[in-house]
Amino acid sequence: MALDRKSVPNDLSAFWMPFTANRQFKQAPRLLVGADGMWYKTHDGRDVLDGTAGLWCCNAGHNRPKITEAIRQQAGELDYAPAFQMSHPKAFELASALRDMAPDGIDHAFFTNSGSESVETALKIAIAYHRARGEGTRTRLIGREKGYHGVNFGGISVGGLVNNRKFFGTLLNGVDHLPHTQLAENAFTKGVPEHGAYLADDLERKIALHGADTIAAVIVEPVAGSAGVIMPPKGYLEKLRKITREHGILLIFDEVITGFGRTGAAFGADTFGIQPDMMTTAKGLTNGVIPMGAVLVSGDIHDTFMTGPDHMIELFHGYTYSGNPMAAAAGLATLETYREEDLFTRAADMAPYWEEALHSLRDCRHVIDIRNIGLIGAIELEPMAGEPTKRAFNAFLQAYEKGILIRTTGDIIAMSPPLIIEKEHIDQLVGTLRDVLTTLD
Ligand SMILES: Cc1ncc(COP(=O)(O)O)c(C=O)c1O
Repeated sequence: MALDRKSVPNDLSAFWMPFTANRQFKQAPRLLVGADGMWYKTHDGRDVLDGTAGLWCCNAGHNRPKITEAIRQQAGELDYAPAFQMSHPKAFELASALRDMAPDGIDHAFFTNSGSESVETALKIAIAYHRARGEGTRTRLIGREKGYHGVNFGGISVGGLVNNRKFFGTLLNGVDHLPHTQLAENAFTKGVPEHGAYLADDLERKIALHGADTIAAVIVEPVAGSAGVIMPPKGYLEKLRKITREHGILLIFDEVITGFGRTGAAFGADTFGIQPDMMTTAKGLTNGVIPMGAVLVSGDIHDTFMTGPDHMIELFHGYTYSGNPMAAAAGLATLETYREEDLFTRAADMAPYWEEALHSLRDCRHVIDIRNIGLIGAIELEPMAGEPTKRAFNAFLQAYEKGILIRTTGDIIAMSPPLIIEKEHIDQLVGTLRDVLTTLD
């Protein structure tokens, strides 16, 4: 592809960019104009190695032929089908493929268009489920400090990132939070840390405080991604599962990041051997190519709604684009690509090399913690005095100039490369990061 600086639009002012320092960006834009496999092309003609799978979503790498072709064909065959009281074959095929991939007992898929919508959908299903089975007092939702569950009102209410919450009013009523699981004593642990399973016991205290009969669901990310890759301590998720089950509370895993191979298995639920009642997904479901999410739901929850007269709608919820034909085609082709290339196993096989490479940065300046699981990694930096987030943001800018794409959140560098990554790419990512950290103020 011929590339030149003319690819920069001459007016950047109209687009209010999401989760972006708009003024900084528009002074020195970073535009991507092409992609292939592990690589992005920038507007100024450089190749940049993708250390983040876009935004944790292009798990099979970029411009995968099967996915591109599926979308092309679908666009020429059936552009749109109404999502309510009508459908089209591929939505059913994709739901079945997801059921086959999900842990036993997760039997149904409700389609959405994003991770945020999957979260809202799961929270609503949880409350409506209890009501449908005669426990309408169970409306309370429990999230976790430092959790990220998207940006809609339900998601920011159960989420635990202060900047995503504090500007937006009083949020949902009846929400409480468990403590986060980042403990200083676990610093530089490879994989899942030893200490902290006791943090799940806080749920018992919430139950004692509010009464189990007021609590609908607990929602957590198996591995907290957006807060900077925070691991569940050994035994922690097992405890959450045990306590929720004992008290009739649903356990929702937000697998928007951990789904589709990221932790070295299909879902975080598989990696940790836990069976949640619902799982929220998006991102890797279509390899990021077309917006789509899905809430994966247990047979018990689904069947609870299937009562009353046949002509009645069972759940008053859905989106115009739920199960959209183009997204469903992209989803099917994506799942086939994962399967044909055995990418989840590949991620598991590559994880030890990834772990060793990341932890080799332990001696670099400013580094105060390194965390990893599957093909996820985080390098936490000591913040600059009085200027939180600046050091990591500078690292991001320098890394981009030096040809690698990383992501930062707070003062944490987070990485989640496509699962097709080769050892030489890992070497390039880590080598460049070492250069950056060496010169960083
Ligand atoms: C765990 C989790 N849940 C929900 C979301 C929101 O997804 P989206 O940006 O597609 O709405 C994200 C996005 O990063 C996520 O990491």
